[in-house]
Amino acid sequence: MIVHPQIQGCVARNCHPIGCRAAVAQQIASVRAAGSFNGPKRVLVLGASSGFGLASRIALAFGAGADTIGVSFERGPSDKGLGSAGWYNNIWFRQAAEQAGHIAINLIGDAFSDTMRQQVIETIRQQLGQVDLVIYSLASGIRVMPDGTQVRSVLKTTGQPFTGWGLDLEHDALVQQTLAAASPEEIRDTVTVMGGEDWQLWLQALQQADCLSKGVQAVAYSYIGPESTYPIYRDGTIGYAKEHLHATAETINLQLAELGGHAWVSVCKALVTKASAYIPVLPVYLGLLMGVMKERGVHEGCIEQMQRLFAGKMYGPQGVVADGNRLIRMDDRELDPAIQAAVSTLWSKVTPDNFHGLGDFAGLKRDFMQLNGFELPEVDYGAPVNESALAELVP
Ligand code: NAI
Ligand code: NA
Repeated sequence: MIVHPQIQGCVARNCHPIGCRAAVAQQIASVRAAGSFNGPKRVLVLGASSGFGLASRIALAFGAGADTIGVSFERGPSDKGLGSAGWYNNIWFRQAAEQAGHIAINLIGDAFSDTMRQQVIETIRQQLGQVDLVIYSLASGIRVMPDGTQVRSVLKTTGQPFTGWGLDLEHDALVQQTLAAASPEEIRDTVTVMGGEDWQLWLQALQQADCLSKGVQAVAYSYIGPESTYPIYRDGTIGYAKEHLHATAETINLQLAELGGHAWVSVCKALVTKASAYIPVLPVYLGLLMGVMKERGVHEGCIEQMQRLFAGKMYGPQGVVADGNRLIRMDDRELDPAIQAAVSTLWSKVTPDNFHGLGDFAGLKRDFMQLNGFELPEVDYGAPVNESALAELVP
């Protein structure tokens, strides 16, 4: 069959499996070009199949020669379609990592479940002994609690409702979006899903099972952003969840002390991913930011961010480089006052009529399409994909 992209709102309904392979290969090439570094050798990545988690895994396997276990929630081929981009990313990553001589194990299932914790513990024991780094990179709208109840996160603001331009990726248009003010229950539920509780459960279970090595590191990803985005992010429900995540890093850090280990939060820059495309209003900021950062030669994609995090700010010559609040600041370039001043000027001018000429919305759209295996220059999209060959691939 020939695969055409199906975009609905800001969600991709399908992927191009061969394009996903090209996108993974591009990230691997980028890491190889950046050169190797002396990083952790055994790594667990929770949320490994896309965005920051996938980029982390690629940076560590191909930059530091790490063996990895990746956990993700993805769909394989079925009567509903070819499956999700993350499904194929896992497979193409594993094939490339194995070819380079590294262990790469994909576990597919619900990372919030104790069943998955047990499966990971057994896999670590059998395959790696222990792990030296645990990466927490889950982004989810729902968490099934250990007792079976379902909690949903929402993307809302707090205080007063907030209205701004949002980006409709399906129609390449700017549309008015309003973030309603969340109720206290909605804030609490978002903290339950996207805060630090599950991260702590993971580290506890791994430590109790003796799966963490001496000097182990744990890192989770967060976002703060400039003041202009506070109503959307930092003062929104997700911001409350991230505050909780930051506080949890301190708790986990204490727990890891007996191993001489540490827990960190890395505050990353805003980037196009499946998760961020879904946040109201934020993609317009992101399109403008991308334009300004590219113009000044400081743009980074997911893979450049993660390569710099591990090679430069966690496992570089100075060890972990963090600010006074123990946050690793990968958003340093985004928050440069000169960059923010330029973004603010554009943001005050942007309208549905002129946005194509401001910032880099074409680049944002291309990044979004490439996350799903589309618009990669090296792929022949006129060629049919072999469904039965794809159906035989295993994670
Ligand atoms: P993403 O959507 O690309 O990746 C999410 C990952 O979580 C995928 O691998 C998915 O399979 C996995 N996942 C979701 N639910 C799961 C479940 N129940 N069980 C197992 N795996 C599950 O998102 P992205 O953007 O890479 O987000 C990762 C983290 O980075 C999040 O904490 C996010 O808040 C943070 N972050 C993202 C930024 C951005 O601009 N994209 C900026 C700063 C932080
Ligand atoms: Na991720």
